[in-house]
Amino acid sequence: MLSQARLAVLCSGFGSNLQAIIDAVRSGRLSVQIASVISDNPDAYAITRARQNNISCVLLNPKEYSTRSAMDQAILSELGKYQADWVILAGFMRLLGPQVVAAYRNRILNIHPALLPSFPGTHAIKRAWEAKVPVTGVTVHFVDEGIDTGPIILQEEVKILDGESLENLEKRIHEVEHRLYPKAIQQVIDKNKIPNNK
Ligand code: GRF
Repeated sequence: MLSQARLAVLCSGFGSNLQAIIDAVRSGRLSVQIASVISDNPDAYAITRARQNNISCVLLNPKEYSTRSAMDQAILSELGKYQADWVILAGFMRLLGPQVVAAYRNRILNIHPALLPSFPGTHAIKRAWEAKVPVTGVTVHFVDEGIDTGPIILQEEVKILDGESLENLEKRIHEVEHRLYPKAIQQVIDKNKIPNNK
């Protein structure tokens, strides 16, 4: 008998990947407990999604912390409070500091809307579209100290169609993200089963 893995999902914005994770849990495709949602943005729609789904939600506003390290300490403290086993970055627009990465090494996942190592960083879909590459995609990877540099867990290609608009490509990439992220999370958790008596 194994206890259910506890996720903390960190979001800064719309939260569609958070929603995909919530939906996957509901439908039984993902066997986890979402212990908390942490947002660094008071205006994030992800906060509303958490509330609508009765998930504990914490706002950590960077403006209230004088240093990066103080903000990282606050994140670590919340992760500890909710006994998170896994840290799931879902559109979290902050680089986690070395203390957080070290404390949760190989337990922090991120989703990126491109085929890493191509197009790391922000506006990845737009940059791939502008570069007219024939194929882009989605990557789920472990988080290390760099920007989108950690070991890759799962990737899926998305071909850019002839004459495709950026909006259409964005829509198709997000559809892949919403399918791929729950699958990657389940895969990683299955490889790291946590004993019940931990
Ligand atoms: C996604 O495209 C994700 O790949 C990137 O940020 C976006 C977040 O979207 N890291 P949402 O907030 O989950 O809707």
